[in-house]
Amino acid sequence: TWTPDSFVETTVAELKEKLGNDKVVLGLSGGVDSTVAATLISKAIGKNLYCIFVNNGLLRKNEFENVLEQYKHMGLNVKGVDASARFLKELAGESDPEGKRKIIGRVFIEVFDDEAHRIQDVSWLAQGTIYPDVIESVSATGGPSATIKSHHNVGGLPDFMKLKIVEPLNTLFKDEVRRVGRSMGIDDELLGRHPFPGPGLGIRILGDITAEKVRMLQEVDHIFVQGLKDDGLYDSVWQAGAMLLPVNSVGVMGDERTYEKAVVLRAVESTDGMTADWVNLPYEFLQKTSNKIINGVKGVNRVVYDISSKPPATIEWE
Ligand code: XMP
Repeated sequence: TWTPDSFVETTVAELKEKLGNDKVVLGLSGGVDSTVAATLISKAIGKNLYCIFVNNGLLRKNEFENVLEQYKHMGLNVKGVDASARFLKELAGESDPEGKRKIIGRVFIEVFDDEAHRIQDVSWLAQGTIYPDVIESVSATGGPSATIKSHHNVGGLPDFMKLKIVEPLNTLFKDEVRRVGRSMGIDDELLGRHPFPGPGLGIRILGDITAEKVRMLQEVDHIFVQGLKDDGLYDSVWQAGAMLLPVNSVGVMGDERTYEKAVVLRAVESTDGMTADWVNLPYEFLQKTSNKIINGVKGVNRVVYDISSKPPATIEWE
């Protein structure tokens, strides 16, 4: 019978056999799949696994620093690459959702390829692809676990894509990946993280992206998600986040009239992201969170809660 321990034991042995003294490169995202894949491969080949964690500037507040630190503590051979400025520059003025996705995907590939070139004689590209990604490759709107390859658009292949591919999780479902991660001692907090899209806050800032909008949305998102954790609601939600709308609304502050941004909070229940229901969060929680956001985040004067299910609404707004 399948157990996480036996899976780890056989997979590590197979990886040792397959990879020998070869060097392997892997892109870490902060998500469950890439982290579990990296941990498994690292168990097999140690420092010959070179992990790259790219900051696209569209991650959650403090996420890059915190997760990078966590990876180092786990003993992974990881290099953090802060390419935020480059992503922001390339995204300037783009407001079409698919256009933004394309830019983010392309720049990611360029940054990753540059980094992969710095590793001498690398021969494998490892990916955290899981079984559902294999049977049902990522849809046009982007599936839950888009892999590096799915971001790729036609044209000359970047060099790292000519590498041999190793995907140790490609027979597992998500819950099995979590169990495997737990059996290797990966933190429950990391294993229980909500899914987060590859393009990150880039598709939660409706319209064009600026550094100031990213800052605003990171603050809003942080208040919301930290609040869910503090109130013990985080684990009962499949995915939660905030969207920054491209509209200003009128408000009052003291004697002054304000004309500032509106944000949307969204929390859904789901099993695979294909269908989803909005979560009936307690009114007291919503009230408290809205006050914290409006009082605490400069530039935001209105908070609304999304009560739409999928279908017909998607989880993301873009
Ligand atoms: P939707 O909005 O299509 O989202 O209901 C379903 C799931 O997919 C995630 N999502 C993406 N993930 N790249 C990704 O890696 C994308 O472009 C993308 N678009 C949506 C979304 O967060 C949800 O988990």
